[in-house]
Amino acid sequence: MKVLVVGSGGREHALAWAIHKSPGVEKVWIAPGNPGTKACGVNVPIDPMDFEAIYDLCRNEAIDLVVVGPENPLAAGIADFLMDRGIRVFGPTSAGARLEASKSAAKDFMARHGIPHARYKAFEQVEDAVSYIRSVPGPWVIKADGLAYGKGVTIVSDMDEAKKAIGEMLSGKLHGEAGRRIVIEEFLEGTEATAMALCDGNTIFPLPMAKDHKRVFEGDKGPMTGGMGVFSPLPFVTPELEDAICRDILYKTLMGLKTDGIDYRGVIYAGLMLTEDGPKVLEYNVRFGDPEAQCVLPRLTGDFAGALLACAEGRLESFVEGKGIGVRDEAAVTVVMTSQGYPGDYPKGLPIAGLERFADGIGPGDVSPDVLVFQAGTKLDHEGRLVTSGGRVLAVTALMPALDAARSKAYEAVSQISFAGAYYRKDIGEVNA
Ligand code: AMP
Ligand code: GLY
Repeated sequence: MKVLVVGSGGREHALAWAIHKSPGVEKVWIAPGNPGTKACGVNVPIDPMDFEAIYDLCRNEAIDLVVVGPENPLAAGIADFLMDRGIRVFGPTSAGARLEASKSAAKDFMARHGIPHARYKAFEQVEDAVSYIRSVPGPWVIKADGLAYGKGVTIVSDMDEAKKAIGEMLSGKLHGEAGRRIVIEEFLEGTEATAMALCDGNTIFPLPMAKDHKRVFEGDKGPMTGGMGVFSPLPFVTPELEDAICRDILYKTLMGLKTDGIDYRGVIYAGLMLTEDGPKVLEYNVRFGDPEAQCVLPRLTGDFAGALLACAEGRLESFVEGKGIGVRDEAAVTVVMTSQGYPGDYPKGLPIAGLERFADGIGPGDVSPDVLVFQAGTKLDHEGRLVTSGGRVLAVTALMPALDAARSKAYEAVSQISFAGAYYRKDIGEVNA
């Protein structure tokens, strides 16, 4: 099988790695990829939003499956475009991608299909939003309706700050067009967790649950980021709770999509708050989480690429019954190394040292067979040296028999990698972090 992965981040490195090592995969392309993905296939300098160029590549190379990493091309209809031209795609159509591209559409969907969620209301006028927050107790969770690179949520307890956030979002100052409509929702207390499933339109294959750490500092303090680290499995999720999440949230979501006339073939990602009243959905994503993919994909066994193709072809049930894909018992911990200053401004172009001792995302390596290093914000400079080029630079994943051991192993690996100003949270994998 020939597979094209669309995207260039750490998630796409993990996807390319898992696809490349699947049996039956002949060749992998990554558009545009990063220096890390070169170890898994051929990087082609194509913009994920250039659907014509992606289609030309598919036709010229007789690509069997396109796997779309990020949400922007999905929301813009890459799956519709390619499927109309006879190409198989893992990733939903733009109608399915509305679950992520519009928070208010997602909330209406949850309400319509009885999927547990926080109480909410959508607004386009400052006065309406302000009179609403006066009528409900804080803290208030204020969300830009559109795509805002994971940074569209503001949580405030102070009325003046809430008014400021509402004004800045609705005027377009904070998140541009994405903020011209906002959702204000009830603040939920509990533990956050990520539940993802592969879907083929009719059935789901739930992936191991994981927990991301969204804020930049230890103890989940400071500004929101794209994700600072992940662990899986989750000791606080009992098998009964996991079953309930699969049945009442993931499967129900797929059935809701089906009822709405959407044939959803891709990942359903539910960002959950595990509250005293049970799990509730905070948000949907329509793709693998980043960095959740870097933690969860190493925990899968079997034929990952085959599973994605089975989703695209609507035959996931028989693929899973045939034990084509499974989950290993080992625990995984992923620590994200960022540039100094992220999620604010940060320097670029700093040389990265120490990667040669690891498997470079292509495991198992000779020195550290249990560690995978996935690249994200990296590039090769004019001398061919690996340097930093983004906020989240690397995701270091360790796979060990238990969570504690995976945690120590991941941090041991992180300590052997360096670039000037490298920052990482020290509490990834601590269950209460
Ligand atoms: P979202 O992009 O909707 O997942 O929101 C980003 C982060 O904001 C989540 O990971 C939570 O930490 C937090 N958040 C979002 N919605 C709520 C809520 N209703 N109650 C409490 N925290 C929330
Ligand atoms: N890690 C959160 C996300 O991918 O949106």
